[in-house]
Amino acid sequence: MKVHIFKTRDEAAKYAFQMIAKGIQEGEIRTLGLATGGTPLKLYEYMRNSNLDVSEVVTVNLDEYVGLKDTDEHSYHFYMEKELFSHLNFKKSYLPNGMAEDPDAECERYDRILKVHPVDLQILGIGKNGHIGFNEPGTSFHSKTHIVELTESTREANRRFFEKEEDVPEKAISMGIASIMAAKKIVLLAFGKSKAEAVCRMINGPVDEACPASVLQTHPDVVVIADAEASSLL
Ligand code: GLP
Repeated sequence: MKVHIFKTRDEAAKYAFQMIAKGIQEGEIRTLGLATGGTPLKLYEYMRNSNLDVSEVVTVNLDEYVGLKDTDEHSYHFYMEKELFSHLNFKKSYLPNGMAEDPDAECERYDRILKVHPVDLQILGIGKNGHIGFNEPGTSFHSKTHIVELTESTREANRRFFEKEEDVPEKAISMGIASIMAAKKIVLLAFGKSKAEAVCRMINGPVDEACPASVLQTHPDVVVIADAEASSLL
């Protein structure tokens, strides 16, 4: 794992943007794995304000809530449309369908998409409990796309995006740990004090399903880009 620490979130996001832009310009990134949440917002701002030609780039997102329509402002479909897709000309963009009538069939469909479009670079954030995507502690390292019961800690962390606690979905559909690990390169972003413990466990802790992100220690090409607060316990 390579760890790059920056004083501010802005400098860190700029560095991540430059790395991704170079990969796209040089034709190394044909499929880009995208994440949601607060963490990649600054990176997406750099991307949408650039004149990056992404017409040959396919995107695949990590996850989506179960039960929210694409048009629901809390859905990750809505988030991606707003932050990135309405600004850049990606060739094609995929997200799991959280409204699928048959969730298991939807997981299989998503795995087939990932097979056709192997991820060249996957952007990740990290949950306070060490989750990646929506893979909560205890998720098998062999997991592929699956339906997830969100933990109270994750629902609480994402509460800020919803009006009421009851509105936070209880389930999500997420790429599994094995699906994430299949990416050629992984760039994990971590900002703020609340992520310091998870970042420390990910890098220095044992490789254990209790901290899903610790699996990244076994990937051959991971770059962690963090600000000073998130790396304060390293
Ligand atoms: C969310 C998302 C993850 C994200 C993480 C951190 O629940 N499913 O993809 O990386 O939790 O969120 P944030 O960036 O808002 O701190």
